[in-house]
Formats: sequence, C-alpha cells, structure tokens
Amino acid sequence: MSTLRGRNLLTLADATGAEILELVDRAELLAARRRDGVTVHTLAGKSIALIFLKPSTRTRAAFLVAATELGAHAEVLGRDDIRFGVKESTKDIARVLGRLFHGVMFRGFEHATIAEFAAHAGVPVWNGLCDQYHPTQVLADLLTLRDNFGELAGLPVTYVGDGRNNMAITLAIAAAKVGLDFRILAPRALHPDPALIATLLAERESPVGGLTVTDDRALALTGSAALYSDVWVSMGEEDQTLERIAVLREYKVTAAMMAATGRSDTIYLHCLPAFHNLDTETARAHPDICEVDEEVFEGPASRVFDQSENRMHTAKALMELTILG
Ligand code: CP
Ligand code: NVA
Repeated sequence: MSTLRGRNLLTLADATGAEILELVDRAELLAARRRDGVTVHTLAGKSIALIFLKPSTRTRAAFLVAATELGAHAEVLGRDDIRFGVKESTKDIARVLGRLFHGVMFRGFEHATIAEFAAHAGVPVWNGLCDQYHPTQVLADLLTLRDNFGELAGLPVTYVGDGRNNMAITLAIAAAKVGLDFRILAPRALHPDPALIATLLAERESPVGGLTVTDDRALALTGSAALYSDVWVSMGEEDQTLERIAVLREYKVTAAMMAATGRSDTIYLHCLPAFHNLDTETARAHPDICEVDEEVFEGPASRVFDQSENRMHTAKALMELTILG
C-alpha cells in the first residue's frame, strides 16, 4: 500500500522525494504496459473530475486518456460550468464534487483557491497548474529525464527564462526533493524570491545536487544535461508581453546555447505550448516572442513531445497511487 493513498498533490512539496520517485517508477511501468498493449482497468468504477479555469490541451487530454485507459470515467468541468465564487463558494463546490467523484484535477489561478478546494473535497485533489505551481507537468519532466539519463540524483538541468514562474519554481522544488543539480538562468529582474530558494536549499531532502540562480551563462550552462524553457508570458500575464520580450530576448534557447553546455548529449525540454516559429497568431503579432529557435525545437536533442506523452503516463500513476494506494 502506497503512502500516497488519499493524499493531494497541490505542489511537489506535498510529497517526499521517495514518493515522487515512486510516482515516476509507476509511470515508467504503465508506459511499458501501454507499449506492450496491456490494458489493466485498475480504476474501473471510479469517476474523475477535471476542472479548468484556464485553457489546456495537454493536461486535459492526458488526464482524459489516462482515466479512460484505466477504466475510469472522466468529466471535464470548464470555467463556465463552475463559476467559482460567483454563484457558489469554493468550499461548497468542493463538498459537492467530493461526494460524487473519487479524485479531482484542478487547473486554476491562485494556489489558495486550489488549497481551499482540497481542504473540503475529502478526495485526492491534483493541481493541474496554477499561477504558482505545475506539479503534474514536472512529474512528466522527471520521467523524461530518467528515460534519457537513467539517474536523477546529481543530474545538471538548466531552466532558461522567467525564473519566477510556475515551471521554474516547481522544477526547483523537484530538484530539492530528488537531487537534481538545478540551475535557473534568468535576468536579475526575473529571479525567484531568494528566501524561497534558501528555504528549498535548507530543507532539501537529497544530499546531492543543488540550486543555482544566476544570469551568468557559463555557470548555468556548463555540463548541463538538459536545457528547459517555457513561454516568457504565462497565462493571465498577456498585458506584460512587451516588457517580458524586452527583458528576455537574450535568453532564447539557440543551438549556440545548447553547445555551451560542452556536452554532446544535452537534451532540450519544454512543457509546451511553445513559440518557436511564426506559425501562430501570437507569434506573428510579436515576432520576438519565441523562447526557442526552430532549429533546437525541431532538432535531434528535442524531447518535447516525449514530455507531452509522459503527462499521460504520470497522470495514470498519480491517480492510481492516490486513489488506490
Ligand atoms: N504543459 C501543459 O500544461 O499544457 P496545457 O496548458 O496544454 O495543459
Ligand atoms: N508558465 C506557463 C506554463 C504552461 C503549461 C503558464 O502558466 O502559462
């Protein structure tokens, strides 16, 4: 029986390093089963709610397919279906859905709303992204890193871009749990809160690895096994597009940046969606918004679609281990 039974995953801080690795191990097994065409309906008879107050492609599709393949029924509840705080309080909605569903994935804005929902739902709640964290994405990222490098402890990984956003912070939490040698390469204006990094370092569970926040490229890139980027403007920040481009334009991941690691096996990661060419309306309106060159995104080092697939394997592991144990 897993210690994760009945637990929430609102941030990766909710799990121990060993529990995070247990989730990754389980996801790896489930991925192998799927490749072999083996179907096991471990969640038959269970119902899962997927709440989206912000849009989603991967998270929605990954949880839907994961639930379906495990034999569960999943129901998507969008922003216009549930009007949090408009017609019904978060606490009341949580108590209703907790009576009906066996687990709830929640994508929202403020972490406090998800935490309030989880406090009253009485069933496992999984954060499918909020302004501060994106833990279900990082489970998939850890699986992708392990698929490529075998061992996470001590693995050098560099995040490039907005060092304060939900991806940078969640990767930093994961690093402190499982021992990545995690570096954030960001302009000073976008460095995360030093107190948060100091707390993560002080409380880190792994004796190996580290956390470095810097605008020094050599320090951040040398020896790195993976460069990770995210959009420069997260959902809900669209009014800051021009200022973000101005401060991050030198931080685009290029082939030269990949080469600056000094390794030939460095991979490129991105949670997606990404701006890497002018094929979208947003990028045509702001041609300098691309956080990565097309050459890197489409190149042999890119593992971005493996990450997307791994969202589904890790969603399965998370639902199984928190609902069934
Ligand atoms: N990576 C990710 O969470 O993608 P979506 O916003 O499409 O769910
Ligand atoms: N930082 C991005 C992640 C998207 C998956 C956002 O919050 O929009």
